[in-house]
Amino acid sequence: MLVQRPPMGWNTWNTFGSEINEALIRESADAFIDAGLKDAGYEYVVIDDCWSARDRDPVTHRILPHPERFPNGMKVVADYVHSKGLKFGMYSCDGVRTCADYPGSYDHEFIDAETFAEIGVDYLKYDNCYKPQNAQGPTLYRRMAMALRASGRDIVFSACNWGSDDVWTWIRGAGAHLYRSTGDIHDSPESYRSIANSQREKLGFSGPGCFNDIDMLTVGMYGKGLVGSTGCNDADYRSQFALWCMYSAPLMLGCDIRRMNEQTHKLVTNRALIRIDQDPECRPPIIIRAAHSETCVSMLKMMDNNEYALAAFNMGESDSRIPIMFTDFGLPVSAGYGFQLKNAFTGEDAGTYRDYMRPAVAAHDCVVYLAKLVRI
Ligand code: GLA
Repeated sequence: MLVQRPPMGWNTWNTFGSEINEALIRESADAFIDAGLKDAGYEYVVIDDCWSARDRDPVTHRILPHPERFPNGMKVVADYVHSKGLKFGMYSCDGVRTCADYPGSYDHEFIDAETFAEIGVDYLKYDNCYKPQNAQGPTLYRRMAMALRASGRDIVFSACNWGSDDVWTWIRGAGAHLYRSTGDIHDSPESYRSIANSQREKLGFSGPGCFNDIDMLTVGMYGKGLVGSTGCNDADYRSQFALWCMYSAPLMLGCDIRRMNEQTHKLVTNRALIRIDQDPECRPPIIIRAAHSETCVSMLKMMDNNEYALAAFNMGESDSRIPIMFTDFGLPVSAGYGFQLKNAFTGEDAGTYRDYMRPAVAAHDCVVYLAKLVRI
């Protein structure tokens, strides 16, 4: 199966951790529709760890649903999600136990893939805890990829080994459609910045078929929920969402989508930013550290149809002007061409610049433009 664009959806983990149940999934599927997330392109409702009983069925060796959280089994949940025109995701792990100590799929890959296919799963996140010491990571991911392929159902395979074992070098060959490249995100400026910065040199490995997954978003959490941490402000959320879009990273929301405030809703349904994330070419941006700055960067992403996305991020603590020299991206000063800009957040025209600009960017914030290269 070819996954052409970075998957978009929502995952339970960041906010809810183990506090999950059938009602939450139903309400969140409803919210997908009511909040217009489906119209904006989001499609996967993903249940992370803690959905299963502590032990497998002693006779069939199948994984069982958690008796209190999902008393009616997982199929009714999948059916409900599907009835909304959405896709259904679940979670397992390549080790003996999952990270939260539920049964993992180690040595049960094929029977578990059959179970997931019977439930109607469209997306499987596959974690990396409690891996036997003599087991090779690449082998374990290949095993599950083969089991999913043999299951008779198209299931997006979302590998989650946190960037270990030089994952970017082998994961495409191991059959995954996306791969977590970093440790777990927390809802703080330091966390999303260090995650994004750690992948600057590795974005060339990401593209149609197999995407670099820099973790679920914390946008809209404001410090609440399992990975709440210090929380972020709206400028940080703008920057986080824009960085993920510039990287063509999967957009998996992690806030409580039933209760998004207006700013969060506006940001995560922003068509211009989603257009940047979902550009069919999925090219990595050219990233330039701003002259005389440790914390400011600019990026240019080539998209189809002579469009570009141009962004500048202020990851520092003081408001700044960020110098952007287009020649750093490859445009000759003497070309007679310049970038005609439209502000991606407001939709307003932002002028045409030939070789240089110096936008004002507040601390923690960013500017993002959709751009066309025009003769001037
Ligand atoms: C790991 C993953 C997280 C989440 C938890 C669940 O830490 O990286 O994204 O799935 O396990 O236990």
